[in-house]
Amino acid sequence: MCVCVCKFEFEQSNFATKRKTSANQLNFKMSSNENGENTDYTNGHTNGHTNGHSVHANGLNSSSNGGHMPFSVRILQPSDYVGFDSLPEQFVNRAIRDGFVFNIMVIGCTGVGKTTVIDSLFNSKFADQSTNSHDSEQVQLNIQTHELQEKHIKLRLSVIETQGFCDQIDKTDSFKPIVKYINEQFENYLQEELKMNRSTNLNLEDSRVHCCLYLLPPTGHGLRSIDLITMKQLDNKVNLIPIIAKSDIITKNELQKLKTKINNEIINNGIKVYKFPTDDHEVNEINTKMNSLTPFAVVASHDFVKVGSKQVRGRQYPWGVVQVENENHSDFTKLREALLRVNMEDLRESTHLNHYELYRRTRLEEMGFGDSLDTSMTCSFQETLQSRRNAQFQELKRKTDEMKQSFVIRIKEKEVVLKETENEIHKRFEAIKRKNQEEKKRLEDERRQLEDEIANFSKCKNQVLQAATLQSGVTLQGKQKKKSLINIKE
Ligand code: GTP
Ligand code: MG
Repeated sequence: MCVCVCKFEFEQSNFATKRKTSANQLNFKMSSNENGENTDYTNGHTNGHTNGHSVHANGLNSSSNGGHMPFSVRILQPSDYVGFDSLPEQFVNRAIRDGFVFNIMVIGCTGVGKTTVIDSLFNSKFADQSTNSHDSEQVQLNIQTHELQEKHIKLRLSVIETQGFCDQIDKTDSFKPIVKYINEQFENYLQEELKMNRSTNLNLEDSRVHCCLYLLPPTGHGLRSIDLITMKQLDNKVNLIPIIAKSDIITKNELQKLKTKINNEIINNGIKVYKFPTDDHEVNEINTKMNSLTPFAVVASHDFVKVGSKQVRGRQYPWGVVQVENENHSDFTKLREALLRVNMEDLRESTHLNHYELYRRTRLEEMGFGDSLDTSMTCSFQETLQSRRNAQFQELKRKTDEMKQSFVIRIKEKEVVLKETENEIHKRFEAIKRKNQEEKKRLEDERRQLEDEIANFSKCKNQVLQAATLQSGVTLQGKQKKKSLINIKE
């Protein structure tokens, strides 16, 4: 009797990887030889036994599945129709029911044509709710979300447009609000993934930037320093697509030279721009052509002009009409085809698998999570969380103890200082007290001396008075004697 073992490995937080694993597993080519035995295995091995039912499943052997036990999968063909061939259909139906999310960022200097390009790309007139203030001290982001429907496919489109880019005198920090926004969206997604009760439909709440159109002016001589710095800051965070805007205002030769110059500068400065994928044979040819056209040189317009019997999106000039969707006039249709018709899903997937994955890995490492190299010590998420929590608790305790100790030391130091100050004050008090006593004693002596002087003075005064009284008595007697002598004479 044969036992069939099916084992599915799911990575907890990486939905796209999960999707790919499932796709690989579904991708087993089922065929049998004339004896009804299986001969075609996806790992390219036949097992060499006629009843040979044991093969290693796609990459899930002991060496490549991260140390799990090897297991064997026997390929069987059901004897009658079961119905799981409708799985892709079910998948598509579900996706159609839920709808899709696409977030596109447009960076470019004021008036370079950002709004017009987006409106032309989606053949819509998105109301501009921004105040369009161009005297802001900082670059700002204007975010608008729209629900679009084409046939029965719903698309929730968010357009993030820079406002005031290049308007500042000092442009050093112009890239910062953009990088901050992109990181914040990654962080929101990561936090949601890490929650115990995660949102049931993370993909529909995805606000990560899937594509970034970097609009360059058609004038000048290639990339300016603000372009180089901003693109370099963004190239590992977002799918960066440089575009030459308003390409109708430069000649064909000039445009070709400008494209070459921009491409050279991008290569020389090590800027990683998004390359349309060429590994899938279905899109290989078209994407190779698209890649050779970058940076796309586009014309955009809100206006419709009558050309022959048709109304076309275009720009009317005195000498003729530039048609937005005419491939001889600009790369606009190629851009739309590459971006929306062929590679929209790849842009979303690449955001998740490359840019978000990089952010996620860095953040998890910062948080203390890591893949243990020692397989005997493989930790579960809960264990890692618990050990991280313990480590943080210990760290907190250590810091609290440290703070307590430093507090005690500071108090002791303060006490010493206070004691010294107290002694100083005491000494000064004693000195002042001594000085006061001496002063008091001196004043007392002076008072006593003064009193003695007053007493002496009073004594002298009395003596003088007595002497004066005596003198006046003698004089009176003399006068009376004289008077009596006169009287006698008379
Ligand atoms: P802000 O949001 O104010 O920074 O401007 P923006 O970059 O969104 O530019 P917008 O789309 O508002 O276009 C500014 C002007 O450029 C408008 O007059 C457009 O008609 C014009 N314009 C847009 N695209 C093109 C183009 O491809 N060629 C030419 N010649 N003009 C264009
Ligand atoms: Mg605008």
